[in-house]
Amino acid sequence: MTRNHRSIAFIGGTGPEGLGLAMRFAHAGDAVIIGSRRIERAKEAARKILEQVPTATVRGLENEAAVRAGDLVMITVPYGGQRDTLEQLRDAIGDKIVIDTVVPLEFEKGKIRAISVAEGSATEQAQAMLPDATVVGAFHNLSAHDLMDVPNEVQSDVVVVADDAEAKQTVIELAQTIDGVRGIDGGGLQNSRLVENITVLLLNINKVYKSHSSIKIVGV
Ligand SMILES: NC(=O)c1ccc[n+]([C@@H]2O[C@H](COP(=O)([O-])OP(=O)(O)OC[C@H]3O[C@@H](n4cnc5c(N)ncnc54)[C@H](OP(=O)(O)O)[C@@H]3O)[C@@H](O)[C@H]2O)c1
Repeated sequence: MTRNHRSIAFIGGTGPEGLGLAMRFAHAGDAVIIGSRRIERAKEAARKILEQVPTATVRGLENEAAVRAGDLVMITVPYGGQRDTLEQLRDAIGDKIVIDTVVPLEFEKGKIRAISVAEGSATEQAQAMLPDATVVGAFHNLSAHDLMDVPNEVQSDVVVVADDAEAKQTVIELAQTIDGVRGIDGGGLQNSRLVENITVLLLNINKVYKSHSSIKIVGV
């Protein structure tokens, strides 16, 4: 799959994280497909991307059609919706590479907390639910606010975890199409819980500093 011919489909791409990533990938030259439970929302999101990235190759479809049309599939729904969504889309996803950005967290009484996941992490849950697909965890620590600010570089590393070396390399290279981002090999899928939990820490830091913090790994 060469870059100029691939398309990236977003399940739940109408939220800030999906929109921000789609804007960046479209800016870098990939075709993007915004998926939604409602076609009108998908089309509206595609229009928003074109406003920010006039050169974008973008369309909006219902989630299932988006997944079928995409070469790579991104999951950008809230953790609470991931299980049911993947259950419905399992056949459409088949054996594709699936990139999970989902962070299991909850906001309660002003506090931001990690949710414990029986499978270990949201990404491992996705792999357990999609046995034919190759699931890769990535982009958990990128703030949607920074992603949508397309004219400016994103000052962050992206830790990529996967059990399949080739799929992991594809996603490291995809991450590096975002201006300012370095992709870091974070090892196997079992490390996703560590990466997902860093986002909970970053959100708590953001609360204290009124910031949009991110991470950089030093020494590599
Ligand atoms: N926001 C960030 O800065 C950030 C940073 C790092 C990681 N993440 C992770 O990225 C994911 C997306 O974040 P977000 O802030 O963009 O989320 P969001 O706005 O809450 O949700 C994204 C989209 O998911 C769909 N959705 C919502 N509830 C759903 C459900 N129960 N079942 C199926 N689809 C549902 C909606 O699309 P439709 O109604 O159009 O179907 C919604 O627009 C989350 O898992 C989050 O943890 C976010």
